[in-house]
Amino acid sequence: MVMAVVSLFLFSFLFTLSSGEISGQPGVNYGQLGNNLPTPKTSISLIKNLKAKRVKIYDANPQILKALENTGLQVSIMIPNQLITDISLNQTLSNQWVQSNLVPFYPKTLIRYLLVGNELISSTTNQTWPHIVPAMHRIKNSLTNFGLHKVKVGTPLAMDILQTSFPPSNGIFRNDIAFTVIKPMLEFLNITNSFFFLDVYPFFSWASDPININLNYAIFESDNITVTDPNTGLVYTNLFDQMVDAVYFAMERLGFSDIRIFIAETGWPNGGDLDQIGANIYNAATYNRNFVKKVTKKPSVGTPARPGSIIPSFIFSLYNENLKPGLGTERHFGLLYPNGSSVYEIDLSGKTLASEFKPLPPPENYKGKAWCVVAEGANETAVAEALSYACSQGNRTCDPVQPGKPCFEPVSVIGHASYAFSSYWAQFRNVGGTCQFNGLAIQIAKDPSYGSCKYPSVTL
Ligand SMILES: *[C@@H]1O[C@H](CO)[C@@H](O)[C@H](O)[C@H]1NC(C)=O
Ligand SMILES: *[C@@H]1O[C@H](CO)[C@@H](O)[C@H](O)[C@H]1NC(C)=O
Ligand SMILES: *[C@@H]1O[C@H](CO)[C@@H](O)[C@H](O)[C@H]1NC(C)=O
Ligand SMILES: *[C@@H]1O[C@H](CO)[C@@H](O)[C@H](O)[C@H]1NC(C)=O
Ligand SMILES: *[C@@H]1O[C@H](CO)[C@@H](O)[C@H](O)[C@H]1NC(C)=O
Ligand SMILES: *[C@@H]1O[C@H](CO)[C@@H](O)[C@H](O)[C@H]1NC(C)=O
Ligand SMILES: *[C@@H]1O[C@H](CO)[C@@H](O)[C@H](O)[C@H]1NC(C)=O
Repeated sequence: MVMAVVSLFLFSFLFTLSSGEISGQPGVNYGQLGNNLPTPKTSISLIKNLKAKRVKIYDANPQILKALENTGLQVSIMIPNQLITDISLNQTLSNQWVQSNLVPFYPKTLIRYLLVGNELISSTTNQTWPHIVPAMHRIKNSLTNFGLHKVKVGTPLAMDILQTSFPPSNGIFRNDIAFTVIKPMLEFLNITNSFFFLDVYPFFSWASDPININLNYAIFESDNITVTDPNTGLVYTNLFDQMVDAVYFAMERLGFSDIRIFIAETGWPNGGDLDQIGANIYNAATYNRNFVKKVTKKPSVGTPARPGSIIPSFIFSLYNENLKPGLGTERHFGLLYPNGSSVYEIDLSGKTLASEFKPLPPPENYKGKAWCVVAEGANETAVAEALSYACSQGNRTCDPVQPGKPCFEPVSVIGHASYAFSSYWAQFRNVGGTCQFNGLAIQIAKDPSYGSCKYPSVTL
């Protein structure tokens, strides 16, 4: 009897402790690189319908911060990359940024994280890098000045900060940043009890080596595939854990074993270019649902190197964003279409069982012929430049669009460029040539040939 009372007391004590901790229920990244997205107000109600715990934006958009007032959603805001150097050199500017972008909305909007830039190591030159940590210190000072002690300062980094990531215990930061940027950053994060914000995409690792990496291992579906780290004996059952632990080991190597990782972005594309395998609704739903299941499990599972730890996170992304540059997958990470309807069912609270969701479309990769043509709405001046570039490459790439040849008529830059892009892609795809042309081109499965004008194709 006494034992029972004691253990009951202990249990409730532990429970109280853990309920004060950060939640494992994921949030969502609300990216806005689309020209067809719902208003902030509608977006916030869609985010609540998804049962997100928190929301991260890539700026400090005042309409969004206003719409987030009194919603109970925890919020992460971001300072643009272009301001980092100036802020690192100027405390007044830092104070001003916090005063005009954060203070007006606090605390009605639960701003919890202030991120200093986005993937700065990947997307800026090494001239900016020495300013990252000083800017973080400036911003922390500003928050202290305004008495904003609950707002954590961090900066999201991508996996390209690692020199080695396999096996995880060999995780080590790149030597051009390890001591100049990462170590002082870890000192800052440790002393301020903040997080190491990390963007983790098993999709990109898998897509770079789909022969050797098992797809099921990448989407948390492997019951029988395991990878054992020979140095530690730790057993991995999915690629995500492997990637996260590589960063934990890299931090440990620099002397920091207590800093927590916060997943600033993770996700899987629901579509992409015709030749991008594995990017489909089935895999996206499977990855994200399994991710939610993993991070909301009670008690927490953590990773092999940090068993039992809570993994706070933001899933990327709320919407398919049609203005994102790059491969087709970049524009297809959404949980929702731009019209607000779901790409597939998902419940970020983790409370819906997999069996309660409707069946998914089968995971098919496109097989057949493909052509590369000018994308709708492409800038015609830029298309003309790309046309002359494509025609200058390879052998007789543009012969059929010359006067008197079968593809000359109807005379148009768009038509000629579509021919040239297809011809270029057909000649160079096997040596790494892409159908991109700076976002001016798109892959299609419908043959654009007409009459005696035959467009070259690739076979996928
Ligand atoms: C620092 O920033 C403030 C506010 O933007 C500006 O007025 C001031 O000129 C800056 N100082 C220097 C040295 O650039
Ligand atoms: C910065 O990058 C340039 C060009 O990539 C390189 O030549 C230079 O050595 C780098 N500087 C530092 C301090 O790493
Ligand atoms: C991290 O911070 C704690 C105090 O919060 C301190 O005791 C510890 O020495 C720090 N670790 C390192 C490696 O600086
Ligand atoms: C794992 O299980 C699947 C389905 O049961 C089976 O097809 C596959 O061959 C197994 N793989 C290994 C490595 O045992
Ligand atoms: C929303 O957009 C998707 C993708 O374009 C489409 O399949 C769906 O029918 C649309 N839903 C509504 C309600 O318009
Ligand atoms: C179109 O492309 C040209 C050449 O690349 C560029 O100078 C121009 O600014 C672009 N126009 C628009 C509206 O983006
Ligand atoms: C162009 O044709 C020549 C002769 O047929 C050949 O040697 C060369 O490799 C071709 N170049 C390309 C880029 O296909």
